[in-house]
Order: sequence, then structure tokens, then C-alpha cells
Amino acid sequence: MTARIIDGKKIAAGIREKLKQKIAALPSAPQLAIVLVGNDEPSLIYVRNKQKAAAQIGLPSQLHHLDENISEEELLKIIAQLNADSEINGIIVQLPLPKHLNTNRIINAISPLKDVDGFHPYNTGMLQNNEKPYFIAATPLGVMQLIRSVSPNLSGKNVVLIGASLIVGRPLATLLLNQECTVSITHAQTRKIKELTSKADILVAACGVAKLVKADWIKENAILIDVGINRENGKLCGDIDFEDVKEKALAITPVPGGVGPMTIAMLLSNTVDAYLLHHPGL
Ligand code: GUN
Repeated sequence: MTARIIDGKKIAAGIREKLKQKIAALPSAPQLAIVLVGNDEPSLIYVRNKQKAAAQIGLPSQLHHLDENISEEELLKIIAQLNADSEINGIIVQLPLPKHLNTNRIINAISPLKDVDGFHPYNTGMLQNNEKPYFIAATPLGVMQLIRSVSPNLSGKNVVLIGASLIVGRPLATLLLNQECTVSITHAQTRKIKELTSKADILVAACGVAKLVKADWIKENAILIDVGINRENGKLCGDIDFEDVKEKALAITPVPGGVGPMTIAMLLSNTVDAYLLHHPGL
């Protein structure tokens, strides 16, 4: 049987519609500040998509598009200004940053109370401790919703994550562990990777290698979540070879139209949560 398509685009549209109604009922609109350094081509596209989606639900965003040669001190000063600006509820610094900037130092400078990307060590640490962080990273939150749309009960599931990034693999592993999954994280040095992936009830690919995962990597009736966005001969594709696996998997997210729209919807949801955090009377 052909795998069920997990329609992230549709699920995300539903979330955005609910957020739009929620924002309309607030006394003022939540505001998002986006810091973009340089002109990394995919980042320009992601930021444009985030701003467009925000505007559509009545959430204004301000873009701080900075020169790629900006110094760390200048960038830290801008973040400090945004931290102090009571009109701003959420701050994101689009990654990757140019090589001369220390990403951890920049992320650590964002107020944890405005860190709607959930990357600050306060927020990642609280998640790790199975306590409530202010914010959880948007892509892992979106992936959890997509998995739950197929498999509401996660307790005891074998999950394999391909990729150990700060943005996806690590926080997602923690979220799944907190739901009583047995989680393996693989990375570029993992040996006999297929022995691991072929035992996964749920497989999440987030490694940025086009069509890496083939049918012989997966278990029959696995749930497949593809976080990859790669370009092959001008066409977008994921880290999973969709055509190769579609007859063997139970369900799979498409690229585009799977995880991508969910990431944006969860970022907007975090920004609305930030507004509520900053207006405790509401
Ligand atoms: N680069 C790729 N994904 C993300 C994300 O979710 N947030 C930020 N800030 N940068 C990214």
C-alpha cells in the first residue's frame, strides 16, 4: 500500500487560522524581531516566508538585515536593544551566521523570555530537565505535531533521528524521550546506520543530504518525517528518497509541504505565547 501523506501545509494552515483569531482578540498585536546577518540565499527565503506568514495572521515583524561583516560587539548591541524594547515580544537570529561570529555567544545574549526559537541554554536546559521552558524550538514542535497526527500515543516507540543539530535533532530527541520513546540519534560518524534506522517505528531525517534514506533503510510501516530541504537539478527534495520508500512506509511528510510550514506556524505560536508571557493579566 502507498504511504499516507502527512499534510503539513494543511495542519499548519489550521494552526495559523487559530492564531489569527487569537491575535484579533488581543488588545495589541504581538511583535517579532528578525535579525538576519548577510545574504545567505536560503536564509533570505526562510525569512521572507516567516514575515509573510506573520503578516497574514496580523503579527507585525521587523527585519534587522545587517551587513555580513558586522562585528560581534555591534550585533550584541542590537540584541541588547531588542531585549530592552517593550514593544518586541519575540527575537530570532536567523542561522547560520557568518563564520566570524560566535553563534553560541549571540544566542546566549537573547533574553530567554523573548527567545521564540527556543535556542537559549535556559530554554534548552529546562527542556532537558523535563521542566517547562519558556519556548521550545519551532521545528521539533512542528515535527511532534506531525508525528502525533499519525500516532497519538508515543510511549515505547523506537525513534531514530538522523542528525544531531541544535535546531532539530537534540531538542527533538528530548521531546520524544519526555514522551517515553526510545530514541537513537545518528550523525556523520555513526557506524552501520541502516541497522539502527531499519528498527525505527518513527524515523526523522534532518541531515541535509538529498535522498539519503532509501527503502532498505526503513522498517515496514514506519512513520517517516523529512526535515531536509535540498535542491537537486533545480527541484526541491528532502533527505528521504520519497519515490523509493513510498510503498514501504505507513506515512511520510512531503518536501515541500511537510515540516517547513509547521516550523513557521510554531514560530508564530511561540511569538503569541511570548506576548501572553509579557502581559500576565490577559
Ligand atoms: N535556520 C534554519 N532553521 C532555523 C530556525 O528554526 N531558526 C533560526 N533562527 N534559524 C534557522
